[in-house]
Amino acid sequence: MNNNDLMEKIVSLAKRRGFVYPASELYGGLANSFDYGPLGSQMKKNIKDVWWREFVTKRDDIVGLDSAIIQNPRVWEASGHLKSFSDPLVECKKCHQRFRADHVEEVKGMAGSELTTEQKAMIVCPAGGEHEFTEAKDFNLMFKTFIGVTEDTASVAYLRPETAQGIFTNFENVLQSTRVKIPFGIAQIGKAFRNEITPGNFIFRTREFEQAEIEYFIKPDDKESSKWYEYWIEKVKSFYLDLGMKKENLLIREHEKSELSHYSTGTSDIEYRFPFGVSELAGIAQRTDYDLKQHEQYSGQELKYYDDESRAKYVPYVVEPSMGIDRAMLAFLVDAYDESNGSDGRAAGEVTLRLHPKLAPIKAAVFPLVKKEGLPDVARSMVDELRRSGIMVFYDESGSVGRRYRRQDEIGTPWCITVDFQTLEDETVTVRDRDTMKQERVAVKKIATWINERLEGVL
Ligand code: GAP
Repeated sequence: MNNNDLMEKIVSLAKRRGFVYPASELYGGLANSFDYGPLGSQMKKNIKDVWWREFVTKRDDIVGLDSAIIQNPRVWEASGHLKSFSDPLVECKKCHQRFRADHVEEVKGMAGSELTTEQKAMIVCPAGGEHEFTEAKDFNLMFKTFIGVTEDTASVAYLRPETAQGIFTNFENVLQSTRVKIPFGIAQIGKAFRNEITPGNFIFRTREFEQAEIEYFIKPDDKESSKWYEYWIEKVKSFYLDLGMKKENLLIREHEKSELSHYSTGTSDIEYRFPFGVSELAGIAQRTDYDLKQHEQYSGQELKYYDDESRAKYVPYVVEPSMGIDRAMLAFLVDAYDESNGSDGRAAGEVTLRLHPKLAPIKAAVFPLVKKEGLPDVARSMVDELRRSGIMVFYDESGSVGRRYRRQDEIGTPWCITVDFQTLEDETVTVRDRDTMKQERVAVKKIATWINERLEGVL
């Protein structure tokens, strides 16, 4: 299967089975905007839940935060986003389409057969031949809005382009209200907005997306910064690997000096081999004391940490692991997509989404073998009990058991539970594993525990 076909199949499955829909479809859609359906919203929640559990719940050095999307505009002056958060824009003099100059350059170096529809549009001009581009000029990516009833300069506000700044502006609040000690982190998951020049590739680059970020505060020392930088690169990488991402699809790339954001002295990207090319999943940046010092200067308030041990007062350095939730979701979908060639006991063309059980939107499907002799009642009461334990389950009594398995394989459900005649005799059910297709008998009484053990509490 070529890469364009793979993306098309994933987009189509995502819509057909309720993972991701094009946004505002009722009104002709809105380019590059998406809504997450019943299964997609659950899967996305699962990614965030695992992240929160891994980096907040399980640790005593990281606390959580949920800051506002719209902040005082001075925040963005201080952070440097108003001045420097821009991408180079070129416009075709013939068709007036606009693109990111660096993306056009990248695409020019690729072979024609590898290009996605979006990438081809950067080369071929609908007015004929190739585009004729203007000189590149900087375009600020911040989304502007207005607070209150007047749309004048005094009421201008911005939608946050990263969640990170809400963490820096609450640094002092967190110090005062908790007992964190350096090194410590503040974690946040939330929406961010960027007026991207060339969004595209499904949910990979959109104008509205979710980030999961940690600002990890450390002693202001270059060696400490390097140590924690390496530490966070490994931690973020393990996050994806532990959730089943294939090792060969994950890469680490250190930024060239010329690519560094205005706040960073060193950044590495964790990249994924997407069907449309190797692209960024997450970034780990050494932000030094840049942000806190900027906020000290613009707010006129001290943002320092008093170190009991050294009895010194300082502005800490920061190492920031930052990942995109939507991109993680796309990478997990791509990684899990498996179309049978007919040699594994499935018919050729049948799709199995080999999602890690923690990410699968539905954990178990419960089937009565037939719709009679009380089997549906037993199955339904099992569904009720599993739901009471907080496990996402799906009840299905329609069609053959084989067809019911296929419907669940396609959405990544790891376990299918069948209530059969033996259940009535010995109170056991068969549990069929999505990946091995092996079946085992488990006592009805133990089924919730059996599932829980395999999910380690991520329901
Ligand atoms: N606070 C640092 C920061 O925002 P970034 O590399 O610009 O760094 C972090 O963004 C992550 O957010 C990226 O690695 C990516 O996963 C995600 N991201 C950024 N722009 C995005 C977009 N337009 N659509 C979807 N995800 C995006």
